[in-house]
Amino acid sequence: MVRADGRPVVVRPDAFAASIHGGLSCIDCHADLATVSDFPHPERLAPVSCASCHDEPAAGLMRSVHGTVSAAAGGALQCAACHGPPHQIKPSSDFESPTHKLQIAETCAECHSGLTGPGARRGPAVAGMFADSIHAMALERTTVAPACTDCHHSHDILRKTDAKSPVHPPNIPAACGTCHGEQRRLFGDSVHAERLAAGSPGAPQCASCHTAHRMAATASDEWQLAAVEQCGTCHREALATYRDSVHGQVTALGFTPVAKCADCHESHQVYRVTDARSSVSPQNLLTTCRTCHPSATPNFVQFQPHANKEDRDRLPALYYAALFMDGLLLSVFVFFAAHTLLWFARERIGPSDEGAHHG
Ligand code: HEC
Ligand code: HEC
Ligand code: HEC
Ligand code: HEC
Ligand code: HEC
Ligand code: HEC
Ligand code: HEC
Ligand code: HEC
Ligand code: HEC
Ligand code: HEC
Repeated sequence: MVRADGRPVVVRPDAFAASIHGGLSCIDCHADLATVSDFPHPERLAPVSCASCHDEPAAGLMRSVHGTVSAAAGGALQCAACHGPPHQIKPSSDFESPTHKLQIAETCAECHSGLTGPGARRGPAVAGMFADSIHAMALERTTVAPACTDCHHSHDILRKTDAKSPVHPPNIPAACGTCHGEQRRLFGDSVHAERLAAGSPGAPQCASCHTAHRMAATASDEWQLAAVEQCGTCHREALATYRDSVHGQVTALGFTPVAKCADCHESHQVYRVTDARSSVSPQNLLTTCRTCHPSATPNFVQFQPHANKEDRDRLPALYYAALFMDGLLLSVFVFFAAHTLLWFARERIGPSDEGAHHG
């Protein structure tokens, strides 16, 4: 039998029996048929309410970003968008299920890869970035790695701007911390975490330095160099003065064994430089430099990693030295400019060598 719109009105008994609902009878779901005694029954049946047996997932979906997709954008997602055809639903523990941990990324990708999904629905395109990540690679080896739903939940998925979302900026350390507890702990009392907890919109969380989806191994040279630039997006002056230093010039050439921001300031335990816990506080500075300069002396660490020659109050010696050098440069320039001008004038006004020759 075929409907007007071409869809077959057929339920494959084998597929239905193999589904998680195989033990139910048809009328458990198609409840309006329970009262029908005259067959064939009416062509239009009441829609099945999955919520009648699964109220929690249904309520979660209803208040989620997916439950509120506007009609113009394709309308709210149905259960089938993730669980597949209604007569073939498998438990998530079944590898064949589209909601199995190893299949989820692909299921979400239907609408989150920049292409248009069922019903012309399209969410922000992130699936491609995730596919390239160390998390996706680890997921091929171990289910300990995160799938989309470990960070976003399955049914009550909220926008990142929603304060209740696990990926709302202040909540991100906790979301990552379910697996990276050590990094969460170290980050926990940093100056960055303090600003984040205070609601400062400029404060970094895990994803500011690691991205949300394109997570990469931190040991690679490429990542280490990018991390310097990443710190610099918020600390522009510190990056500029670092670039003037010997360490900064070497990393600018693409070499990594010199000191990068996190080698001196730590990656997660970043404190104010005046805080005794800071790796660059006067108490700890020598130890920090000695990780790479084992024979460093207190004199050696007088070196200014952020030498700003315009800062007279903090670095008077450098300021006046720079002033002197600038002055010297200027007077040399003025002297030679005057010299060249006078020479030029003499060439034009004085007796011509050429004329003398021809004469
Ligand atoms: C787990 C609940 C559930 C069970 C059990 C179930 N169905 Fe359905 N069925 C659905 C849903 C959901 C739809 C999609 C239409 C809707 O939402 O009402 C559907 C649609 C249908 C359709 C319309 C097909 C179409 O493509 O529009 C038929 C016919 C049907 N079911 C027959 C059966 C028969 C026969 C059985 C028993 C062998 C059965 N169903 C068992 C949930 C169920
Ligand atoms: C955006 C995708 C998505 C949609 C839409 C969705 N689910 Fe799920 N659902 C999942 C994923 C992923 C899992 C497995 C992971 C888990 O257990 O949270 C799951 C698990 C479940 C489970 C088993 C675990 C539990 O919480 O009891 C049930 C039952 C369920 N879904 C029912 C539904 C129903 C009913 C609907 C429609 C109202 C629905 N789902 C819509 C993704 C979705
Ligand atoms: C009449 C009640 C009933 C209805 C209606 C119903 N289900 Fe179920 N569903 C069940 C029962 C009972 C189980 C558990 C079966 C088991 O554990 O053996 C189940 C299991 C599931 C699971 C697997 C849960 C797991 O452990 O991974 C999913 C997913 C699911 N249902 C989705 C749906 C969706 C989607 C609909 C609507 C199309 C629906 N159900 C409609 C009764 C129902
Ligand atoms: C390791 C945790 C994690 C995983 C895994 C993850 N996300 Fe995210 N996702 C985040 C975080 C954190 C944000 C917020 C990023 C931000 O603040 O810009 C986010 C943001 C998003 C957004 C909003 C993007 C925007 O620009 O508005 C979407 C959509 C999204 N994720 C979908 C997915 C999908 C689909 C997957 C799987 C393919 C996935 N996420 C996997 C952590 C994760
Ligand atoms: C059938 C299409 C479809 C599927 C499948 C789907 N989504 Fe979405 N998703 C959307 C649409 C449409 C939006 C809303 C876009 C809008 O209104 O801004 C959205 C929005 C989101 C957002 C909110 C982004 C923000 O603004 O912060 C997240 C997070 C998200 N989806 C994650 C997921 C995850 C995780 C999965 C898989 C479990 C998934 N989606 C599966 C279509 C889908
Ligand atoms: C469900 C567990 C889980 C969650 C949640 C999770 N991760 Fe991971 N993460 C892993 C696993 C597993 C690896 C892979 C380790 C490997 O392959 O060596 C990994 C690897 C990483 C790496 C690379 C580590 C290295 O050796 O350089 C970074 C960085 C990372 N995750 C950051 C995050 C951030 C940031 C979040 C939150 C947005 C997050 N992770 C959420 C499990 C998780
Ligand atoms: C201010 C930037 C920044 C923030 C915020 C940040 N990280 Fe990192 N993270 C780094 C840097 C830099 C490294 C590399 C450290 C190294 O190579 O010594 C790193 C390394 C890692 C690693 C690899 C293992 C390790 O400890 O070296 C993991 C996992 C990780 N971070 C997870 C997280 C998580 C989870 C959060 C949030 C709680 C977070 N990071 C917040 C910059 C940051
Ligand atoms: C060789 C070690 C070293 C490196 C590399 C380094 N710093 Fe510093 N940083 C210090 C020391 C020591 C201080 C405290 C003295 C000072 O302010 O010059 C400091 C101070 C700071 C301050 C606070 C003072 C201010 O200017 O507001 C910030 C912010 C900072 N560094 C960020 C960075 C960033 C971002 C990078 C990478 C682009 C970086 N640092 C690279 C050692 C270093
Ligand atoms: C998303 C923006 C952002 C990123 C990325 C970021 N920071 Fe910060 N950082 C801040 C904010 C905000 C403060 C607090 C400033 C304040 O309150 O004075 C801060 C404070 C600091 C301080 C203390 C400055 C002081 O006054 O003593 C240091 C040192 C520092 N950050 C180093 C780093 C390093 C190293 C990285 C990269 C590994 C980094 N930051 C990445 C925003 C950022
Ligand atoms: C991650 C390793 C690392 C750390 C930490 C580090 N440096 Fe360096 N530094 C280097 C390397 C490598 C060079 C260049 C090699 C060379 O030519 O000696 C260098 C070069 C220098 C130079 C140029 C003169 C010289 O000895 O070649 C000075 C000065 C210097 N570092 C000072 C410091 C001070 C002060 C600290 C602590 C605030 C520090 N460094 C922390 C790795 C580091």
